[in-house]
Amino acid sequence: MLKVEDIGVRYGSTQAVRSASFEVRAGEITALVGSNGAGKTTTLKAIVGLASLSKGTVFLDGKALRRPVPERLVRRGIVLVPEGRQIFVTMTVEENLRLAELAAPKGKAQEGRWTRDDVYERFASLARRRTTSAGALSGGEQQQLAIARALVANPRLILLDEPSFGLAPQLVDQLFVHLGELRDSGTAILLVEQNALRAIDLADRAYVMSQGTVRRHAGGDHDRVKEELINAYLGPAERQEADGV
Ligand SMILES: Nc1ncnc2c1ncn2[C@@H]1O[C@H](COP(=O)(O)OP(=O)(O)OP(=O)(O)O)[C@@H](O)[C@H]1O
Ligand SMILES: [Mg+2]
Repeated sequence: MLKVEDIGVRYGSTQAVRSASFEVRAGEITALVGSNGAGKTTTLKAIVGLASLSKGTVFLDGKALRRPVPERLVRRGIVLVPEGRQIFVTMTVEENLRLAELAAPKGKAQEGRWTRDDVYERFASLARRRTTSAGALSGGEQQQLAIARALVANPRLILLDEPSFGLAPQLVDQLFVHLGELRDSGTAILLVEQNALRAIDLADRAYVMSQGTVRRHAGGDHDRVKEELINAYLGPAERQEADGV
């Protein structure tokens, strides 16, 4: 579905992404894990056009995305839930969800589609706070609303940047269950998570990002990915040796 081919992103003199290559397949959860500052968020931003590429190409359904624009990608069923919730704080929970529904791709089969009711069924605290303005929700509730907004937009691919951030452990458990359900209902997920081992265990395919680099490999081999993850958390000296830099 999505293929990222040797992309790079610079912020001035900072090379935030040096070379990232990986793929996201339909019907799968793909995890992208790695230490702080590795370039994960920047990679997600680059995919939807919120950061510009200094090199490389992103392919969607086999076609190069020439100039990605976030709104246009939403219409094509690709939604990013950014790090740090981006919800409309002056609108109520219900209004936030309604607005997100408007962005849903047109003409997609209704079956398997997430409705507001589905969201309320699964996120009880959102149901209780339907008419509350989003700015008055707790941090964890805002995080749930951000995810719920993406779900009612009915994406075929959802890019999640640390969705468990700020959630109480019990809600993290629920979130991981929801993500599994979402995948099983046919939505592909690209998951960036600090809960790295948990994300890898849930994922069908996993990649480790280290110092701006993601290498394509047999992403289904979880033991190998975990080994790579441990290496990525080792000091730079060991890593450079391993990289042959
Ligand atoms: N807007 C920006 N301007 C300048 N540098 C940036 C910007 N955003 C990120 N960077 C830098 O790019 C690098 C990668 O950052 P990024 O946010 O992609 O990392 P990350 O893997 O998502 O980290 P974390 O796990 O902490 O969220 C970091 O060195 C960061 O300081
Ligand atoms: Mg990040």
